[in-house]
Amino acid sequence: MKVIKDIKEMQRESEGLRSSGKKIAFVPTMGYLHDGHAALLRRGRGMADILVMSLFVNPTQFAPTEDLSNYPRDFERDRRIAEKEGTDIIFAPDAKGMYPEGYQTEVSVREISKPLCGASRPAHFAGVATVCCKLFNIVKPHFAVFGEKDFQQFLVIRRMVLDLDMDLEAVPFPTVREPDGLAMSSRNVYLTPEERAQAVCLSRSLALAKEACEKGERNVQKILLLVLGALEDARLGKIDYVDMRAVPSLEKVGKTIAGPTLLALAVKFGKARLIDNTVLLRELWNP
Ligand code: PAJ
Repeated sequence: MKVIKDIKEMQRESEGLRSSGKKIAFVPTMGYLHDGHAALLRRGRGMADILVMSLFVNPTQFAPTEDLSNYPRDFERDRRIAEKEGTDIIFAPDAKGMYPEGYQTEVSVREISKPLCGASRPAHFAGVATVCCKLFNIVKPHFAVFGEKDFQQFLVIRRMVLDLDMDLEAVPFPTVREPDGLAMSSRNVYLTPEERAQAVCLSRSLALAKEACEKGERNVQKILLLVLGALEDARLGKIDYVDMRAVPSLEKVGKTIAGPTLLALAVKFGKARLIDNTVLLRELWNP
């Protein structure tokens, strides 16, 4: 496994691989890998000849008040996990290389960046779209794998790829969960044991909603109340949002749902902001 830090070197490497007919799968990450990232790597490994993982804690997707400086990092551990999953290249640029002096370009995927996580993190998805656009230009992948834990992020990237005619496929991968249902996240390490115990309410509330929908419930208010009720057990958590939006536009839904609908939530436990989601009536979505 190679570790490449230099942007031009990564571009030369990818160019060489592409011209010798190799297919490249790409998994962008901010490191501190867990089993969710590992599953994405295995998905990438299975679909191409070459697997590239990027490891870059992207400063432009963090607001000044957020956890950029103490975002968990452990390069050696990440390197071992990536190698074990069959990664060929880790691309690990530094912030000065990615955003040199004079840098000013931004990619903004306007409407679907606004609701849900975009409402409380207004600059977040422009930061994500911009860094992914840059990473795609550097790594030149045929496929890029994204986790559905960040469903809005996947939709933003998918929209950007479509809108800007990027020559690659954004591939979604299901959320990987702890045995009790909590979605795996690098930020789970921030939770105290008590918060960790209560955090299970997030996935539990979504499962209740999904079950109700499967039994025929289509009323948006009733589904939201069901979720809010189940979240009451997370006493240490502060709800940021619980919302339902049409997939893939993320437009508002009416009083009842008739098509694929993202049910998403964010809850703050101390300094950890946890997110989770499920897609109701997913069988109606043809991506
Ligand atoms: P990061 O949070 O490190 O996540 C990297 C990838 O792993 C994302 O596609 C994310 O959705 C996926 N992922 C995280 N937890 C997961 C889980 N429990 N199950 C399945 N997939 C999971 O997302 C980012 O980094 C950044 O925004 C990035 C795309 C790298 C741009 O900076």
